[in-house]
Amino acid sequence: MSVLERLSPDNRLFGIPIQHSFASLYILDLVFDQFDFAQVVELGTYRGALSTFLWLECQVRGHRFLSVDRADKRVTDLFPFLRGDIFECQRTKLRIFEFLGQAPSFLYCDDGNKPREIQVYAPVLPPRSVLGVHDWGTEISEKDVSFLADLSFHPIDDINCLSTELHTLQQFWVRR
Ligand SMILES: C[S@@+](CC[C@H](N)C(=O)[O-])C[C@H]1O[C@@H](n2cnc3c(N)ncnc32)[C@H](O)[C@@H]1O
Repeated sequence: MSVLERLSPDNRLFGIPIQHSFASLYILDLVFDQFDFAQVVELGTYRGALSTFLWLECQVRGHRFLSVDRADKRVTDLFPFLRGDIFECQRTKLRIFEFLGQAPSFLYCDDGNKPREIQVYAPVLPPRSVLGVHDWGTEISEKDVSFLADLSFHPIDDINCLSTELHTLQQFWVRR
């Protein structure tokens, strides 16, 4: 067992269980640095640890933020939260479409069906938006995203390379 596993066996951030590694937070911070979006949507809040991290990034940089989940398992309510099923609830879908349509956005997909999330939500992202996904190679892979090229999404090669090196299971695209 590594020292990290011993000190933080259930992987926590701000004392809240999180389903991301610390390296993946570093990658997300790089995405905020490198791209010029004005708002962020996270699909898949769970306990709210990653949401709190993303919300803090947004607070510091003056961006808007929204986290969405069909269940409310939040440990904190610091950040704006929308409860609803992102596929089945029309009101939830419209609210997310409306939010994303307002300005270049960063959409981070970490719900239960990543290929479907990207199919439904990537097309509404304005130009200069960034699309990110977790569990790349386990829950979603190249065959699920071939349509993105036709929508002018380009892989962010340097960040994706670093993500592979650091085993963060993340993948990112920018819409031109
Ligand atoms: C992997 S967890 C999110 C982990 C969180 N981003 C983190 O890093 O701590 C996935 C979440 O997606 C939510 N979810 C799954 N399917 C959903 C759907 N159709 N609509 C909304 N939320 C959904 C689940 O309730 C769960 O909280």
